[in-house]
Amino acid sequence: MKTIAFMNLKGGVAKTTTTVNAAAILARDCKQSVLVVDADSQCNTTEFFSPPGVQSGHGTHCTFADLLRRTDVGPVIRPSSFPHVDLLPADDTLMDLDLSKVEGKAVDINCLRRLLKMPRYNFYDWVLIDCPPSFNAAAAAALLAADQVVIPIKLDAFSLRGMANLQRQIHNMTQINRGLAIAGFLPTMAYKSKTLEEAAAALKKSGLPVFSPIRRSAPVDNMTFSQEPLIVSSPKSAACQDYRRFVKELMEGGADRGV
Ligand SMILES: Nc1ncnc2c1ncn2[C@@H]1O[C@H](COP(=O)(O)OP(=O)(O)OP(=O)(O)O)[C@@H](O)[C@H]1O
Ligand SMILES: [Mg+2]
Repeated sequence: MKTIAFMNLKGGVAKTTTTVNAAAILARDCKQSVLVVDADSQCNTTEFFSPPGVQSGHGTHCTFADLLRRTDVGPVIRPSSFPHVDLLPADDTLMDLDLSKVEGKAVDINCLRRLLKMPRYNFYDWVLIDCPPSFNAAAAAALLAADQVVIPIKLDAFSLRGMANLQRQIHNMTQINRGLAIAGFLPTMAYKSKTLEEAAAALKKSGLPVFSPIRRSAPVDNMTFSQEPLIVSSPKSAACQDYRRFVKELMEGGADRGV
């Protein structure tokens, strides 16, 4: 089992888009069994992978928030709408669980790590965790459970000026889990431009591996409406081809280490 957290404290960098498409490609094209964990109170992954008519809201079934609160709620993993992808759903109460409650033991940030070690769940080949754009209890639980972090990043001036912040984030992540490896940066929403090429070169100089970029492509927005991953809704799109290459790189165990 390989557990990957998709994490960046910056919002809107394609953490969710990457999680759902990588899950679908691993499951359908690579015949892997996949568990997707939604660690974000926005519930985007939960909604994306929920069968039509099934609401992700609190109370209808057990969620990651219940696990963190130690509520004894029974099975928390359920099949998703996509074959061979299971889902550990989120609900909006995840937002209320901040790290400050951990000391008072109200929140169990070891819950996911423990769950994944249970013999009945060790048949998953891959566990992909969609993290929130904030460093809260759910993010900490994700990082404690993960073997590797992939950092989706949009190559713009804001992100690059935030490199110092990103390095701090990475330091904090590895403080939480010393066994955690940074698999690499994944440039997302890329398009051809001199500035972006310079930005990619700057990223490689960070010394961390950099995966091949995912190109910006209109079908990604459409996919959020149709709730079908790109391999179903737009298999020929540039982003779909790039996500296939990303999964290959991930399965082969690495991104380009740069200079
Ligand atoms: N390759 C792409 N081409 C075009 N649009 C994209 C691409 N990747 C992501 N997007 C769009 O960017 C937006 C943000 O993507 P997404 O929700 O995956 O980011 P996120 O990092 O999960 O955001 P949040 O931090 O809010 O959870 C969405 O509208 C999505 O459709
Ligand atoms: Mg998201």
